[in-house]
Amino acid sequence: MRIAVLSETEGAETRVAATPETAKKYKALGADVAIQAGAGAKAGIPDAEFEAAGASVVASREEALKDADIILKVRRPAEGELAGAKPGALLIAIMDPYGQEAALKGLADSKVAAFSMELMPRITRAQVMDVLSSQANLAGYRAVIDATAEYGRAMPMMMTAAGTVPAARVFVMGAGVAGLQAIATARRLGAVVTATDVRPAAKEQVESLGAKFIAVEDEEFKQAETAGGYAKEMSAEYQAKQAALVASHIAKQDIVITTALIPGRPAPKLVTKAMVETMKPGSVIVDLAVERGGNCEVSKPGKVADYKGVKIVGHLNVPGRLAATASSLYAKNLYAFVETLVDKESKALSVKWDDELVKATCLTRDGAVVHPAFQPKA
Ligand code: NAI
Repeated sequence: MRIAVLSETEGAETRVAATPETAKKYKALGADVAIQAGAGAKAGIPDAEFEAAGASVVASREEALKDADIILKVRRPAEGELAGAKPGALLIAIMDPYGQEAALKGLADSKVAAFSMELMPRITRAQVMDVLSSQANLAGYRAVIDATAEYGRAMPMMMTAAGTVPAARVFVMGAGVAGLQAIATARRLGAVVTATDVRPAAKEQVESLGAKFIAVEDEEFKQAETAGGYAKEMSAEYQAKQAALVASHIAKQDIVITTALIPGRPAPKLVTKAMVETMKPGSVIVDLAVERGGNCEVSKPGKVADYKGVKIVGHLNVPGRLAATASSLYAKNLYAFVETLVDKESKALSVKWDDELVKATCLTRDGAVVHPAFQPKA
């Protein structure tokens, strides 16, 4: 069994799909691990560390792919990137499959069995494989660090001989994995934190972290969580009530961190241009949803924008701003999944195609898109 770890081709991607720690574990699982030279460089992992862990470092992608049974990546490969891969090889990555019909067809045509880690069911057994959680948690932490760096004032209250500095007011919108970590981080820095979400379960979680919960708690709110624990897209009526509540609250905030997402849908627009206009100059908004269209009307993907003195931070790939930590957690998520695809006795690949985790994540197989949610439109 041979595992290939490829370098990322997307320019802004800093993470890598394996670490020396997981390379060692794959060896113990019975696999030969081939790392494309330089794959870990942006995450601070030199080739020599992979070699010391028992992996072989190969000069090119083609060499890594040759005879590979499993191909590990962070992002979905670009067109042509899989040239030379063995038919039937398993490709495991964050595939970003929504609205990517042509790309999925490309994966099918390349004859690999492609698995999308972000479709992993959120069940107890798969928690260790949950890439959305491992990466969102870091993004939430980093959002606060980025906000702090842009903010021209201190976060905690300070009593000094020269006078008292007030604590910063931080408002976190969306209290899922990223939002909860943002709340915890801002609290640790001494900010006064409030948060909102449309799922009722979020209220207790927000309060347990010492933040105040602010939301329109009507009948729709009570029904807003899906069985999978995700938010539903809210009605126009709810959104209007939510906007009115948020508008009066936002005007008093120093830092707003937005993390609101709905699976498979564009991010809800929660912070309008008019709301930004009510914020004090020097305030900061960090929009963690920019890659999905943004929660703030004036955020610019990949930029720190200035709108009437308010800084709107729209960094892309926020987990990648903590490349080493993000890679280490992502690599462990991948290892935990790969372990379920290998027979421990024979040390050979043994995919149980009817396993719940396999069925939920497998996008393509034997030349076709097999996932029911991503069937090509007739
Ligand atoms: P997400 O990344 O899909 O969305 C982020 C947050 O935005 C969610 O809390 C969502 O409710 C919120 N949101 C959506 N529309 C909004 C709006 N209009 N206004 C305000 N907030 C809005 O969610 P994430 O972080 O993936 O978490 C979803 C749920 O899954 C949470 O309950 C989390 O605790 C749970 N979870 C369960 C796991 C497990 O059981 N294995 C693992 C990880 C998360």
